[in-house]
Parts: sequence; structure tokens; C-alpha cells
Amino acid sequence: MAATLVRGGTVVTEDGRRRADLLVRDGVVAAVGEGLEAPAGAELVDAGGCFVVPGGIDPHTHMQLPTMGTVVADDFLSGTGAAAAGGTTTILDFVGPERGQSPLDALAVWQGWAARSTVDYGFHMTVSWWGSGFAAEMAPLVRSHGISSFKFFLAYKGGLMLSDEEILEGFLRCRELGALAQVHAENGELIAFLQAKLLGEGRTGPAAHALSRPPELEGEATLRAITMAETVDVPLYVVHVSAAQAADAIGGARQRGVKVVGETLPGFLAIDDSVYSSSDFDQAAGHVMSPPYRPKGHPEALWRAIETGALTVTGTDHCCFTKAQKRAGLEKFTLIPNGCGGVEDRLHVLWHLGVNGGRLTPERFVALTSSNAARAFNLWPRKGSLAVGSDGDVVVLDPERTRTLSARTQHQRTDFSVWEGRTVKGVVVHTLARGRHVWADGDLRAEPGAGRFLPRPPFGSVYQRVS
Ligand code: URP
Ligand code: ZN
Ligand code: ZN
Repeated sequence: MAATLVRGGTVVTEDGRRRADLLVRDGVVAAVGEGLEAPAGAELVDAGGCFVVPGGIDPHTHMQLPTMGTVVADDFLSGTGAAAAGGTTTILDFVGPERGQSPLDALAVWQGWAARSTVDYGFHMTVSWWGSGFAAEMAPLVRSHGISSFKFFLAYKGGLMLSDEEILEGFLRCRELGALAQVHAENGELIAFLQAKLLGEGRTGPAAHALSRPPELEGEATLRAITMAETVDVPLYVVHVSAAQAADAIGGARQRGVKVVGETLPGFLAIDDSVYSSSDFDQAAGHVMSPPYRPKGHPEALWRAIETGALTVTGTDHCCFTKAQKRAGLEKFTLIPNGCGGVEDRLHVLWHLGVNGGRLTPERFVALTSSNAARAFNLWPRKGSLAVGSDGDVVVLDPERTRTLSARTQHQRTDFSVWEGRTVKGVVVHTLARGRHVWADGDLRAEPGAGRFLPRPPFGSVYQRVS
């Protein structure tokens, strides 16, 4: 019987904190309390002076994704190893069918890749095309394969973008099946117009990427998606919220009682669009993602949205490329692969900026990094909790230790980091993933295939619990 006793820490959940030991046995939390005895043969983890929190859930990653003529730099093994090193023990990744490809066939491909994961994983399905064939396969995806969330794109005209009519049909299908509708909310029509205009004016560099996707376009698309979801009464999850206008739309809808959840990313809380004015192509292109980093003022507005409860979930949109891969867009910003890394950095950055910065209590940190995502994606209380019976996903965080984030020392498989040179205080020293000690003070024990697939049931009557 494998057991680990995490001793002498302050155990924190979204509900509160207390000095306690925590025993994990056979992969689940077996006891939480003072002065627990270590069973014979148990591994001891010293958490003195540290916080003990649930393993992070990153509900937004892209491992191994083929996109824009290349493949994302992290595969499921390297990416989940990086996750473990940063205290994340569950990822939810996006299956991406090709146009016209059966989503069930695409799922089989992703399942094959993800079998090498070192932490637990689940999937969302990207609705990369629409038609009766896609709608039909959503039923077995939800009912037999545990895929209960579907991402719709209002952007990427000529690619992933669907019409409002198609999105509405997709939302209705989600409602029928008890699935959660997710949206990438930017106005793709206007982006295409601005891209063509900027290129026509000779604006080919990475700075034009942000100019082609202004915050107003995210605000408009977010409100449109909410209006559609509200009209057909389907719960909605807005991914990677970067703009104040989008956060306002979500906050307003939540106040009216609309079932909408907003996710933001650490980068959007700390980095602004000045990164695109660098004369160093690698620097500017390294930050190219969609939506882009926003003008000054937006990060602050997103923090306020977290404080008011408009935004309740954080992910990373981990989608990393090397500098060489980004150089595909040297001549034309629209060819720069979209995406940045971060699965390894989220807990560190949020603790440092949030808890040390006086914006988050440790309890709210837990809610934002695991518990709220667990609820939104129907993993609660197996994940995002340290109650007896929950999975033994446990992080020991030393609030006094510091670390300087850098591409040179990260486990993410890229030579770039949006956090390069930033020193954070509050460091993940141990990570247990279903009881396995996967990160032990600098020692990454990423075991290929140790992660398990997490089928997620549809919501049905649980709709009300989306929070
Ligand atoms: O630029 C980004 N975000 N790339 C990943 C795909 C997406 O839209 O989430
Ligand atoms: Zn997206
Ligand atoms: Zn994404």
C-alpha cells in the first residue's frame, strides 16, 4: 500500500486553512488532521513553513497540436512534466479535428498522444467545422467518451471560425447533451479586415498582430456569444479573456444570473502590449498569441474582474513554440504561429502577483487555480479539493523561497519565456499527482504514461453548479 505523509504544513482549500498533516494512500487523500501517524513504509514530505494546496488544474492547454504548418513544441510527456514541476496535476487539452475529420477519429489520435502524460488529463473538443456529421458524433463523445465541453471559434475567418447560425446550432446541441459550450471570442470578420488593411499598408511585423485584434473586437464577440448562450439557455465558458470589455460583459451577465464562466491567463494579468514594439523579432513574435496582450490598463481591469467575481478560472492556453518556429512569420505577421507557453509558471506567477501582491488570499488562490475549474468542468470534488477521498493531487509551496523564471531553466520545451528574468517569491517544492511524488524539490520524476484520462460526465441537473 503506497502512502505519503505530508507533515507540518498549513493545508489550504478554497474554504479555509489550518495547520494539519495530510496522508495520501493509494492515490487518494486518506486523512487530514493534526499529529497523523505515518503508516509503515510511508514516504515523509516535510511541509514545515509551507502551504499545502490542491494540485493545479490547467483547463486550457495545447500539447502536440498541429497548427499553422508546424507542431506545438511540447508533447504530452514534456508538457505534463513541466506542469508537474509547476504544481499542476491536471490538464484539459483541446482535441482538434481537421476540417471534415470525424471528431471521434481525432479523439483517438489525441488519446494515443496523451497516453504518455505524466499527470491526469481530460479533453475538450474543438468544433473546427460544423455539419450534421459533427452534431451526430457529439452524442457518443459526451455519453460514451467523457468529452463534455466543446469550443466554438468566433475568430479565424477562413479557418476555425463558424457563422453565428452554426454556433447557435452547436449551442443547442450542447444544451441537448448537457455539455458546456466554450468560445474563443474575437470578431473574426473585423480581424480579417484589419489584417488585410495593415498588410496593405506595409505593416508586416509582429506589432501589427495586436493592431489587427483590438480589445473592442473581443468585447463585441464576448457579448455576442453570451447573448446567443443566454437566448438558448446553455451554460457558456469564455476562454482566455484578455480585454476589460470582455470581462465587463461576463461580469454584467453573471449579475443578471446568466450561466457564464470567464477564464483568464496569468500573462493577461501582468504583461501589456508594449512587448510587441520590441525591435527584436524573436521577442515580439514570442508574445504573439490570440487574443494578444492588451494596452496598459487592461491587466488592472482583469484583476478587478477577479476581485468582483466576474472572472473565476485561470488557465494558461499553453501553446508554446520555439523562436525558430515563430520565424515562419518573419515576412508576414499573420504567419507567426499563435501561442505562448506557461503551464509551468501559472501557480508561481499567481502566488507572487496575487497573494504576495495582496490581491488574493491563499484560499482565493486555490479557487482560481483548481477548485473553480474542477466545478466548471465537472471534476469536483475528485479534483480541486483536499477532502478525504479526493485524488491525492497535492502541492507544497514554500512562501519564502524565490525563483527566477527563465527559458534556460524551465522544463517547457522551448527557448522562450514570456516571464524571462522575473523573480517570483513562493515556490512549488513538492508535487504529488494521485499520490506519486512527481516533483521533489528540483527533481522531476515524470513517468511516461502515469497520468490517467479523466472522463467528464455531462451536466444535466448539475447546470446550476457551474460557478
Ligand atoms: O494564440 C493562441 N491562443 N493559440 C492557441 C489556440 C487558441 O485559440 O486558444
Ligand atoms: Zn482560443
Ligand atoms: Zn487555446
